[in-house]
Amino acid sequence: MALTSSLCLIALLLVLPCCLGHMHLAKYNFRRVLHPQYTLYWNYNPTDRNLTFAVRVQTTGWVGFGISPNGGMVGSDVVIGWVQDGRSYFNDRFATAQSTPAIDMQQDWFLISAEEENGYTTLEFTRNYTSCDGNNQDRNITVRQ
Ligand SMILES: *[C@@H]1O[C@H](CO)[C@@H](O)[C@H](O)[C@H]1NC(C)=O
Ligand SMILES: *[C@@H]1O[C@H](CO)[C@@H](O)[C@H](O)[C@H]1NC(C)=O
Ligand SMILES: *[C@@H]1O[C@H](CO)[C@@H](O)[C@H](O)[C@H]1NC(C)=O
Repeated sequence: MALTSSLCLIALLLVLPCCLGHMHLAKYNFRRVLHPQYTLYWNYNPTDRNLTFAVRVQTTGWVGFGISPNGGMVGSDVVIGWVQDGRSYFNDRFATAQSTPAIDMQQDWFLISAEEENGYTTLEFTRNYTSCDGNNQDRNITVRQ
């Protein structure tokens, strides 16, 4: 009995550290591996008419995520975020060229959490389906159910 419990405890101790950091990702209903180093998670919320996204990327640098009208970068509604020295950075941007997109005058995407550990950067963020960005620097998102 004592042996069994201590074995369980050891198993728990071995399992917990690897998964604790990513438990918040379990709440996402949708997941797509966009690249071997880049996984996207998302949920949509018809009541609030908004979406929550998480990206988990094998990098200690910056992470970008964008919504494109045609698959290209120009005209994309983009967010870029990163973690440095324990501080998180995150901005709503708009791509007008194949270069670092400028920060939108109005911010419509919001960071929920940011974490960098074991060579991975994980960002969680939220946005309404439609944005009231009067500067036309966002793309609306259509959710088909
Ligand atoms: C998102 O939608 C909610 C509810 O419709 C609204 O109150 C809020 O101002 C919107 N946020 C942004 C950034 O547009
Ligand atoms: C979306 O709704 C959730 C609550 O369900 C809220 O926490 C989040 O801030 C909302 N996002 C926006 C952009 O308003
Ligand atoms: C997004 O939808 C809102 C509300 O319907 C609209 O006012 C706005 O012009 C749309 N934005 C774009 C870029 O289509």
